[in-house]
Amino acid sequence: MGKALKEIKKILVTGGAGYIGSVLVPKLLHLGYEVKVFDNLTYSNSGIKDLFGNPLFSFIEADIRDLEKVKQSLNEVDCIIHLAAISNDPSAELDQSLTREINYDAYLPLIQYAKKAGVHRFINPSSIGVYGINFDNYVNENDPVNPLTEYARCKVKSEVLIKEQSSSDFTAVSLRCGTVCGWSSRMRFDLSVNTLTAVALNNKRLTVWGGGQKRPQIHIDDITNFFVSLVMAPSIKINGKIFNAAGHNTEVMQIAETIKKVLNNDLELISAPPREDERSYCVSSELIEKELGLFPKKTIEDAVIDIVKAYHEGKWNNYLLPIYNNVKQIKENKLT
Ligand SMILES: NC(=O)c1ccc[n+]([C@@H]2O[C@H](COP(=O)([O-])OP(=O)(O)OC[C@H]3O[C@@H](n4cnc5c(N)ncnc54)[C@H](O)[C@@H]3O)[C@@H](O)[C@H]2O)c1
Repeated sequence: MGKALKEIKKILVTGGAGYIGSVLVPKLLHLGYEVKVFDNLTYSNSGIKDLFGNPLFSFIEADIRDLEKVKQSLNEVDCIIHLAAISNDPSAELDQSLTREINYDAYLPLIQYAKKAGVHRFINPSSIGVYGINFDNYVNENDPVNPLTEYARCKVKSEVLIKEQSSSDFTAVSLRCGTVCGWSSRMRFDLSVNTLTAVALNNKRLTVWGGGQKRPQIHIDDITNFFVSLVMAPSIKINGKIFNAAGHNTEVMQIAETIKKVLNNDLELISAPPREDERSYCVSSELIEKELGLFPKKTIEDAVIDIVKAYHEGKWNNYLLPIYNNVKQIKENKLT
């Protein structure tokens, strides 16, 4: 990765203390960007606590719905990576109106203040969940969306808004991410590969329901590199666009077998009949590869290895703790 582009020096990462932000923010700092994290610490500060000595790093603990704090945070910011969200389907269903407030209503004021403050780039993390259920057909960015949950509906609406707000002075792009996997210092054990790995390590047995259903997965190192590339990309290549970043379309049974391999076969795999909600997604990431040269370099096996390594290093043990699970933690915080 090259040096920071001149015109983007300072980046505001909302939700930067989250799972993705905790890997992304250190990368941006390492590249010489000034990074301000804006986060209400819904889950924990574990992903950013080691950054406080870094002169390029600053932190605002606030809610994205607090417009005064949003306004104050934008001074001299060139680019926003807007990760703050209720960030999966089940947690977004807990209180749909709260989800709408955070995952959609907060966008327009943020963008309006950002434009006034001279911000000229906005990177929006969307989700392949916008496609709904697709059985083994590869979907691409030209296919219709079919959002089935409040989370996905907010993602679709935010993409539309981002596109509308893009202009020659305001580069705005959406990245439809696959399910992210791998180790982060703000760990989530409510994401499929991460959860399966934790259950396997803990129980030495893993039940796979169905197993043939495909789930696009992308390593956290790859998705954070993609975000960095969107910071650096020439505006003309990304402005007003939507890119899939789905990574590997992998059957759940293949994931389980990968985990078994990493655990040196010390795992009993049990096959069970498919359950009701066995969604199958198959998403094409050809566009981002063709237009921006971005493709995943890490595998699901790499993600599993990193999580197992973190376990043996004592970085986590009880994957059932609420801090690792967005639904549990939101309930615990009494946000709903
Ligand atoms: N992790 C994935 O697999 C994945 C896949 C597709 C899209 N995304 C999207 O990427 C973004 C980040 O995901 P993540 O996995 O890092 O999630 P995360 O839940 O770990 O992080 C979200 C962060 O946002 C913060 N936040 C939540 N509500 C806030 C509010 N009202 N004000 C300020 N901060 C708030 C939280 O404290 C948390 O630190 C989300 O938009 C998510 O929808 C994630």
